[in-house]
Amino acid sequence: MKDVNVGICGLGTVGGGTFNVLNRNAAIIAGRAGCNIRITRIASRRNRDDMDLGDVPFSTEIFDVVNDPAIDIVVELIGGYETARELVLAAIRNGKHVVTANKALIAVHGNEIFAAADEAGVVVAYEAGVAGGIPVMKAVREGLAGNRIDWIAGIINGTGNYILTEMRAGRPFAEVLKEAQDLGYAEADPTFDVEGIDAAHKLTILAAAGFGVPLQFEKAFTEGISAITPYDIAHAEQLGYRIKHLGIARRRDEGIELRVHPTLVPRSHLIAQVDGVLNAVLVDGDAVGQTMYYGPGAGDEATASAVIADIVDAARIVANESALRVPYLGFAPDALEDLDVLSMEDIQSAYYLRITALDRPGVLAKIASILSEHGINIESIMQKESEMKDGRIPVIILTHTVQERQINRAIEELESLSDTDGPVVRIRAENFN
Ligand code: HSE
Repeated sequence: MKDVNVGICGLGTVGGGTFNVLNRNAAIIAGRAGCNIRITRIASRRNRDDMDLGDVPFSTEIFDVVNDPAIDIVVELIGGYETARELVLAAIRNGKHVVTANKALIAVHGNEIFAAADEAGVVVAYEAGVAGGIPVMKAVREGLAGNRIDWIAGIINGTGNYILTEMRAGRPFAEVLKEAQDLGYAEADPTFDVEGIDAAHKLTILAAAGFGVPLQFEKAFTEGISAITPYDIAHAEQLGYRIKHLGIARRRDEGIELRVHPTLVPRSHLIAQVDGVLNAVLVDGDAVGQTMYYGPGAGDEATASAVIADIVDAARIVANESALRVPYLGFAPDALEDLDVLSMEDIQSAYYLRITALDRPGVLAKIASILSEHGINIESIMQKESEMKDGRIPVIILTHTVQERQINRAIEELESLSDTDGPVVRIRAENFN
């Protein structure tokens, strides 16, 4: 069997997991790849004295790996945007295949990186960047190749899902976030997790591969979970819904929806049962219908599992001197469609609205009339008489699917009524039809 040489840049949570699994399962992995995958160099800006690296040379200069002529595959696990971009472009220039777990890098610089890799005739693989250990990019790029994919919706940030799950049990936000950080799930900057930026990185990649469009991260809409209250979690549950932080991408004739925000999902749907650090991605294809990919979205060895699958793909190319490769986004580059991302006013969704109404006769009729004037159909309405305080009473409404523009206008009018108090709480809802 041939040897294929791998260099690892970055020895944090995922780097450590990749090193350990590659060593532990070396024989199985070699059997699958048809070659021996040898780690011949490791570089990490931070020392890992706690890890036994055997006789593999280690340095704190990450460019040592891309400049080593013996290395066939560079594994980029340093994270971040700019240094990672320079490192990956240098590896490509040096004729090396690249495996990365860096969703930020691919979402933001992927168009440039893929073009450079195409020109150099090397592969850049990024399965581990999207939903950690779940092989969802393999499914979207290859397994669903016969489908027109109409929408993708997923819980694609483990930290956020962990926080929302624990908050259902009444635990405070900050305490749960600290726990997720200690477990190695959170990003270096945890606002990326809770504000939806990390999920938007992953959604951008999923949408590009699913619909065959260029990566357009800068146009993705993000809304985080920090404003979600236990009150709305509990009332959504009473309506038969659960609040999840979802990434939703939908293809329309006029463009694509690309949005990350808290979302009510029916409690009876499988995705509502996805708790803790687990991720799930629902993909709707015209031929197959709905499929769901579920599993650990973060963590050392879970993410290493996806990194190693990509190393195996790249190693087969090296060992067999093969030209056979799946295009980066699953479509030939010249087949990508120039579909723009729609503005949020143009998206379509159902909505949960919580209005603080004054306890006066006719207030419900006024609310209903404003919604009806804007063409908004009510699915259910709940007036919490038992929760009346200081003459104010919460009115909770679930609407049918409408355009966000209609809801925005209706909310403006609801807030200007003299019979309501304070801002209307609005959370989008999805029934997956
Ligand atoms: N911070 C990410 C998450 C790690 O919590 O899902 C995996 O991408």
